[in-house]
Amino acid sequence: MDRKFESDIDRRSYLKLVGAGGAVGMMGTAGCLGGGDGGDGETTTTEGGETGTEGGETTDMEVTEIVPGTAPGFAPFEFKEGDELVGFDIDLTTAVVENMEGYELGEWKEFEFSSLIPALTSENIDLIAAAMTINDERKQTISFSDPYYEADQSVLVRTDGEFSPGSLDDLNGHPVGAQKGTTGESIVQEQVPDATYRAYDNYVLAVRDLENGNVDAVVLDKPVAENFASQSAVEVAFVEETGEKYGLGMRQDSEFIDALNEGLAAVKEDGTYEEIVNKWFGQE
Ligand code: ARG
Repeated sequence: MDRKFESDIDRRSYLKLVGAGGAVGMMGTAGCLGGGDGGDGETTTTEGGETGTEGGETTDMEVTEIVPGTAPGFAPFEFKEGDELVGFDIDLTTAVVENMEGYELGEWKEFEFSSLIPALTSENIDLIAAAMTINDERKQTISFSDPYYEADQSVLVRTDGEFSPGSLDDLNGHPVGAQKGTTGESIVQEQVPDATYRAYDNYVLAVRDLENGNVDAVVLDKPVAENFASQSAVEVAFVEETGEKYGLGMRQDSEFIDALNEGLAAVKEDGTYEEIVNKWFGQE
């Protein structure tokens, strides 16, 4: 077991102790979360699921709530527009769950990215929708849906700066930022041993520090880097092809993994997926 995995476990037991830590906005929704107030902590869907009147006018299906969690500050996938949580992942998740019979989407909870997996395993949330890359390390702890988006990493630098790296090697000797717990962080830590790594709770802070000159580069997913580049005095210096695939995260024993994959397939088939891509990435 490597150290990262161990510290996830520590964090998780800590989260259990303090209740839910790391959450920005805590809500008391029950739904399909275990460990509510009282009861055995498990919400069950009645078999057959129907309790309605016979003529079928008001059929009352038992519906299980899926509480989703994300880490905003990662536009256009998830970010805040004023108080409102918006983005590609928000729309996609909403559309997918709409296609899952017997389930409904609960209220979104917001976390730092590195707190999402602990929040999921401690049953604080039921689903992660956070542009999370499917990888083996994470698969030791959680399950992923089928892939829903593909992206490479890229390296941001200041637009007016003199530093224009062409490869990861060029980052050695420089202060480089990334978000805690991300694949961008792993790249810096594993492939740029002589960089001074600075870890940030989110990429908004990392990019601000890049603009301020506190770091010389930030490593992050290319679609998000391009979004920052269109809005701040930063630009993509080069792309590191990683071919990462994003998946929605669920507990390994989640009862709705298949239903969610079917919902995702339906959304891809009926054109909704394409609409959401066009909405957030513009027509190609
Ligand atoms: N795709 C990267 C990863 O899985 C970065 C995801 C960051 N997501 C976020 N919502 N901040 O590690």
